[in-house]
Amino acid sequence: MKKVSVIGSLFIMMIFILVSCGGDGSKNQKSNKPTVKNSNKKEVAKKEEVKEITSKGEDKNAIPTPPEHLAKARSIIAEVSKNDVEGVDAKKKFKNLCAICHGMKGNMEINGAKDLTKSKVSLEEAVAQIYHGKGLMTPFKGILTDAEIVAVSKYVEEFRN
Ligand code: HEC
Repeated sequence: MKKVSVIGSLFIMMIFILVSCGGDGSKNQKSNKPTVKNSNKKEVAKKEEVKEITSKGEDKNAIPTPPEHLAKARSIIAEVSKNDVEGVDAKKKFKNLCAICHGMKGNMEINGAKDLTKSKVSLEEAVAQIYHGKGLMTPFKGILTDAEIVAVSKYVEEFRN
């Protein structure tokens, strides 16, 4: 009978050890939780970063066209010949180079492109922006001739009607 009780108590000891191991296991799980929280923190940080970039982008939009860009635009407009501008197939140029972001009707706003149907920019500002680029819009200096830039600037004004 004594042997049985010894074996019984050994059994109980074993169960205790097992249970305490299980306890450790749960502790491990607990210690895992902060790492999950950390990755959440990282995600939050990432989101904040993205927010910052977007708000920076918006700030950029608010920045007016630099005066030297406007001065360059004025000289482009003054120097192009009316014939050269009228000879440009502006619709085709727009379709090939601008529609990927602005859409065929100017109102697509892909890649943060501005809705050209609601645009209020002057011809000068449009020429400056197309020549030098702005924000996410790539510059077209060297891609379009001066006459083509003026023609396409006039063409996009038609979207407003
Ligand atoms: C890579 C995409 C992209 C392409 C291609 C592109 N644009 Fe843009 N466009 C933009 C973005 C983005 C803005 C807003 C820029 C800003 O203000 O930060 C913009 C703004 C403009 C504006 C000023 C609108 C306003 O009210 O401020 C005009 C005009 C314009 N684009 C004309 C054109 C023309 C013409 C072409 C083709 C020669 C063209 N864009 C090609 C992305 C593009």
